Amino acid sequence: MNKSDFNPRNIAVFASGSGSNAENIINYFNNESRPGFVALVVANRADAPVLDRARKLGVPAVVVSRDEFSDQRLMFDLMDRYSIDIVVLAGFLLMIPGFLIERYRGRMVNIHPSLLPKYGGKGMYGRRVHEAVVAAGETRSGITIHLVDEEYDRGEIIFQADVDIDGNDTPESVESKVRGLEQRHFARVIDETFFR
Ligand code: GRF
Repeated sequence: MNKSDFNPRNIAVFASGSGSNAENIINYFNNESRPGFVALVVANRADAPVLDRARKLGVPAVVVSRDEFSDQRLMFDLMDRYSIDIVVLAGFLLMIPGFLIERYRGRMVNIHPSLLPKYGGKGMYGRRVHEAVVAAGETRSGITIHLVDEEYDRGEIIFQADVDIDGNDTPESVESKVRGLEQRHFARVIDETFFR
């Protein structure tokens, strides 16, 4: 696609958990006059704290069950209803169906809390990533922001940032360092990738 033909505006954030990244992205885009706007949050669990966070910030937040998520017509209707151009995965734990990957190819990003290709792939999410990093005696970890394609955690890397880890670090302290990187970089990288 010619870049000049592509004028994205609306972002959907897909999240399953606490939603600190979703909140940060909403604050970045929706409170300033930026070309991008978070128009929808999608969660796969009704008890995900991200739903409350989004609604408090005035962003529609919907729950989509696992079955609904794999229903092409339902998902395309939902994306159309909010005119979604860009999909951001921020701690979203369901496998993305092929029809969504296809439709949002080059327009869907994920954040992973390690320096991919290390500590990625099936089962590597949340605290488990940081436990594995500490158990292996790594001296660095960080974040990877990448495009989503059919290969889990393997899409084209857009951005990485790292932090030092020392012998005193625990999975908890590594997680907190990595979350600091997420807060510092994720929204800005989305902006620079799709809206500049
Ligand atoms: C983040 O660490 C992100 O990198 C990972 O899942 C976590 C989501 O955290 N993919 P939150 O729900 O945004 O607070």
